[in-house]
Amino acid sequence: MTTAETYHGSKILILDFGGQYTQVIARRIRECQVFSQVVRYDTPAAELAALGARGLILGGGPASVYAPGAPQPDPAIFTLGLPVLGICYGMQLMAFHLGGEVARGDRREYGQGQLEVTASECLLFHNLPARLDVLNSHSDKLTRLPTGFRPVARTDNSEYAAVEDPTRRLYGLQFHPEVVHTPRGREMLENFVFQVCGCRQDWTMGSFIEQSCAEIRAQVGEERVVLGLSGGVDSSVAAVLLHQAIGDQLTCIFVNNGLLRANEAETVQRVFGENFHIKLKYVDASARFLSKLRRVTDPEKKRKIIGNEFVRVFEHATRELVTADRADGTAKKGRGAAAGHHYKFLAQGTLYPDVIESVSISGNPAALIKSHHNVGGLPEKMKFQLVEPLRQLFKDEVRQVGQQLGLPKEIVQRQPFPGPGLAVRILGEVTEERLRILREADTIVVNEMKAADWYYKVWQSFAILLPVRSVGVMGDERTYENTIALRVVESQDGMTADWTRLPYELLARISSRIINEVNGVNRVCYDISAKPPSTIEWE
Ligand code: XMP
Repeated sequence: MTTAETYHGSKILILDFGGQYTQVIARRIRECQVFSQVVRYDTPAAELAALGARGLILGGGPASVYAPGAPQPDPAIFTLGLPVLGICYGMQLMAFHLGGEVARGDRREYGQGQLEVTASECLLFHNLPARLDVLNSHSDKLTRLPTGFRPVARTDNSEYAAVEDPTRRLYGLQFHPEVVHTPRGREMLENFVFQVCGCRQDWTMGSFIEQSCAEIRAQVGEERVVLGLSGGVDSSVAAVLLHQAIGDQLTCIFVNNGLLRANEAETVQRVFGENFHIKLKYVDASARFLSKLRRVTDPEKKRKIIGNEFVRVFEHATRELVTADRADGTAKKGRGAAAGHHYKFLAQGTLYPDVIESVSISGNPAALIKSHHNVGGLPEKMKFQLVEPLRQLFKDEVRQVGQQLGLPKEIVQRQPFPGPGLAVRILGEVTEERLRILREADTIVVNEMKAADWYYKVWQSFAILLPVRSVGVMGDERTYENTIALRVVESQDGMTADWTRLPYELLARISSRIINEVNGVNRVCYDISAKPPSTIEWE
């Protein structure tokens, strides 16, 4: 799949020293339409050169350059003749390796600062004003520059807030240009990428699709590929991309686990089967899932049961595909099919943030690889080889690809929905009746959010059914019915979130519609908790 090895356009490599913003740097460079990839901090210089990068960025890191076991780059990276931009820890490392002096700071400088550009001809500050807001986050400080360097900007606290050696094309920034708290930081990164490194803007989603299709064909050859389609953004885009690349060699399996939102199964069949003509095997396993969930109230148990059941249903469906192919004489004679129980390849919509290697710096640096399986445990169990065409993309890039491939907005811009579905939004036992109540309430939430033009502005908006009944009055009658909680949150990536300050009129409309229209509900509450300490989902 597209990686620094296979991508032939302009590229920037980012060395990861464990800083919390390393991924953000990669995103910012991609937003300039230049391919960027995060690599380990100790990747040998020869390897970096062989990858054909136009420039290197040394990211931040929590460590002091003097700390025992502080992650160090291969010193030869500074003699490759490639432009290098050191950010924060990366700048100190560069200075340290080239003969400068770094003083251990006893106090961490964290927060907004004012940068004064003292050498406006420095390419990093091309077309930028002399005074700029920046975000500082460092404790060590540069105290003597290596030979050939000069200061180009200062802050109250540091004479060397930005430095350069224009002859060797080496640059350093003490602050973080990649974060929003450095409002013009993106332009500094652009200046590095275009003015210093001379990159071309050739990373576009159109070029990605073209290259990705060629790579998928090369990987898969004549073999067949199966993909578990959930209807979410990632698996949907992966499906359409693969279909563009290999047509009918792809079969998607859509499992209705009985825990979907209203009309979900119909939408998936309409969009993928009818509009895109993708081979789609629809499996209605709702009865099976619901019977396994009977009397289960523990959230973790629910998740486990649903995960296990999914693997079983998926395996069974794949075997049925092989049998059906045999019956109509289309079975391939490839090794996978000969083994008789599986297709050779499993496609997944894994994204870059799921696979990016991150370095943990605590004593001995060790590489941590976050493992992520959209369909938990399937590849190991069924000996599939993986096809993951979105492995190099960020979520917003996946959305752009989906849009270019003609997927409708209702799929490309849809809010995240958990794999275990409505089961984790029904607190207590999951029954047909409770699913009906939640589905009806949920549909009202989605429709009202869309009608008020709020749906696409928030991260998620959904209903939760609580295991709580309370007293109400309807007409002349006393009621004793269920409570619906409403959760609407804003978030960048789901890691942290805050509740959305929705207009009262919209909250009132959603509440009164749910209580009036959904049989069995007489109370609606709005969840005003932030994550952390709460989570977005309730289970
Ligand atoms: P929490 O509840 O942990 O959720 O704050 C963070 C984000 O992850 C989504 N989520 C899931 N997505 N399978 C998924 O694919 C899951 O089991 C799952 N659990 C939570 C959640 O909707 C939110 O966007």
